[in-house]
Order: sequence, then structure tokens, then C-alpha cells
Amino acid sequence: APQAASSGPLAGKIALVSAGPTVEAIDPVRYISNRSSGKMGIAIAEALADAGAEVKLVLGPTHLSTSHAGVKTIPVQSAADMFSACVAEYPMADVIVMAAAVADYRPAHVADRKIKKGEGGMVLELEKTHDILRTLGNNKAPEQVLVGFSLETNNERENALKKLREKNLDLVVLNSLADPGAGFNHDTNKVTLFDNRGKETALPLQSKQAVAREIVNAIISLQHA
Ligand code: CTP
Ligand code: CA
Repeated sequence: APQAASSGPLAGKIALVSAGPTVEAIDPVRYISNRSSGKMGIAIAEALADAGAEVKLVLGPTHLSTSHAGVKTIPVQSAADMFSACVAEYPMADVIVMAAAVADYRPAHVADRKIKKGEGGMVLELEKTHDILRTLGNNKAPEQVLVGFSLETNNERENALKKLREKNLDLVVLNSLADPGAGFNHDTNKVTLFDNRGKETALPLQSKQAVAREIVNAIISLQHA
């Protein structure tokens, strides 16, 4: 496993990363979730650790993991679990990257027994989960660098800039599902970075590790200014 870096541009810094999906129980045997392998978020956690940061990775259910010595994984299941873990770690963090595909809705009632099928269809009542990133943005300290993702299929630029502004981010990573080779379970990704000073950087299709390094470089340049 890669060693923890004791030097590098982020030495002495603490980073918090969320990654993977969340799962929201319907009953003891069923759940709703999002498509996400956690691959991009794990690559970001490892790149931050390579740059010298001490990293906490809040990771939803996935078959992927990291054995990087600079990354401590905090496993979670639901959006509520992820919210608690991120809020608890946030005050200590200098750099925060929320890459998780958090469920926006969860079942309003979780059945304690398996729901049996009846005649006809069924209606599932959903309620909204807390927006973790928005909560962190509302409580951001001046020296913290907060990064979010924007996963879009249409009106990409406009939606990404809206998230940058409304969630009080320093950097937003636009992940367009319109791009072939980008997105779920691929080893490659194509993203555009928008920072809070109006800088826009369209990156080529490249490995998720290379994308992660570019995101970390953008974070480092935001920190130094
Ligand atoms: N996010 C979060 N908590 C949520 C929902 C989203 O922390 N409950 C974070 C994601 O990790 C991501 C960013 O918010 O960094 C944007 O997620 P996205 O799903 O693209 O946007 P939403 O704000 O949820 O809006 P919508 O899904 O309607 O586009
Ligand atoms: Ca969402």
C-alpha cells in the first residue's frame, strides 16, 4: 500500500472526502440508492494523501476500498449516517471534497418487517434527505476550501455554476453524463472545473487518477491565494 506522505504541498493539512452512494432502507430487504462506484471519490482521497494531507474518507456502500496509508475510511450506509459523519469531521478539515452520490430522497417510513406484495401496484412515500454539502457551505470558515460535484445530463454549465454559488463552494467539478467515457464505473472521466474566481478549466478525457490530481492541483492553487 502507498505510504502516508509526510511532505508535499498539503503536509499538515486535514482533508475530508465523501464518496460512493448512500442506501436508504425501504424495509429489511429493500433499499433505494444511486448509481456510483465511489471510484472518483476514492481517487481524490488518495491524491490528497499523496499531496501530504491526512485524509478522512466517508464512504457509502461499494465493493471498492483504499489501502492508502494516508487515508482513514469511515464507512456509512444512509444519507443520514453520511451527514452525521461529515458534520462531525468538518470543523477539523482544511480541505473538503464532497464526491458522494447522496440519495436526495429516502422512504418516509421504514417498515420493520418485509413488505408483502398485494394486488396491483404500490406507492412509496419519499421525504428529502439533508443536503450535506449545502450545510457545510453554510458553516464554512474563511480558511476552509470546499469542493462539490455537479452531476448533470443537461444545462450542465448553468447548473454547475448555480451549485457553486448556492452551496457557497470554492470549486465545483462538473461531471457531464453526456460525455462518452465519463461517469459510472468507468476508469476514465471528463470534467470541467469552475472556481469561485470565475476560472473555468475543461479537462480532457483521462483516467480518474489523473482527474483527481488535477482537482487536487486546483485546490492547492486556491489555498495559496
Ligand atoms: N450532495 C450532498 N448531500 C445531498 C445531495 C448532494 O452533499 N443530500 C452533494 C454531492 O455530494 C455533490 C453536490 O452536492 O457534491 C451536488 O450533487 P448533485 O446531485 O449534482 O446536486 P443536488 O444539489 O443534489 O441537485 P440535483 O440532484 O437536483 O441536481
Ligand atoms: Ca442530487
